Amino acid sequence: MITFHEKTVDVLYEEKTLQARIAELGAQITRDYQGKDLTLLCVLKGSIFFVTDLARAIDLPLTIEFLGASSYHGGTESSGEVRITTDVSTPLKDRHVLVVEDIIDTGLTMKFLLGNLAARHPASVKLCSLLAKPSRAKVQIDIDYTGFVIDDHFVVGYGLDYEERLRNLPFIGVMKPGAI
Ligand code: IMP
Ligand code: MG
Repeated sequence: MITFHEKTVDVLYEEKTLQARIAELGAQITRDYQGKDLTLLCVLKGSIFFVTDLARAIDLPLTIEFLGASSYHGGTESSGEVRITTDVSTPLKDRHVLVVEDIIDTGLTMKFLLGNLAARHPASVKLCSLLAKPSRAKVQIDIDYTGFVIDDHFVVGYGLDYEERLRNLPFIGVMKPGAI
């Protein structure tokens, strides 16, 4: 039987590959934030699965906050317009904030968010993104921790959506031509 997911997407990174890379990122973050009070700032909704796996790969007493940001009005192109849809529950002032993002595509969303965060006077801000698509960059964003650098594909799964669907795939896949 061909499942819905098999008809729609080709696997790019399977679950095992994602978890192995996240373990490496977690170990690196654990070393870098020794003695610091770390806050993982999960950018909703795309980073929901990534942040839960990453948090468990970090051996430090961290806190987790959620920030809802929306730059899409459906489809596969960034609108460039960013809205904060959900804000954090605890002030970020004097916290060591590690922004956890699913993907940096044009970079427009992250440029807006980093500007917004700076105004809250955290002790430090670094960025961890599971995926980066440098070929699509419209603004330069320095990513401190990158999971995987990918070509210009529209990817879905493991939190990433196409029109709010497919976030629940346990792997990251590429939409098949004609599936969009
Ligand atoms: P940017 O502002 O163009 O960097 O895009 C930021 C947001 O768009 C990301 O945080 C994702 O939520 C979404 N996005 C960008 N590329 C993709 C993709 O290939 N698949 C699914 N969502 C994407
Ligand atoms: Mg996102």
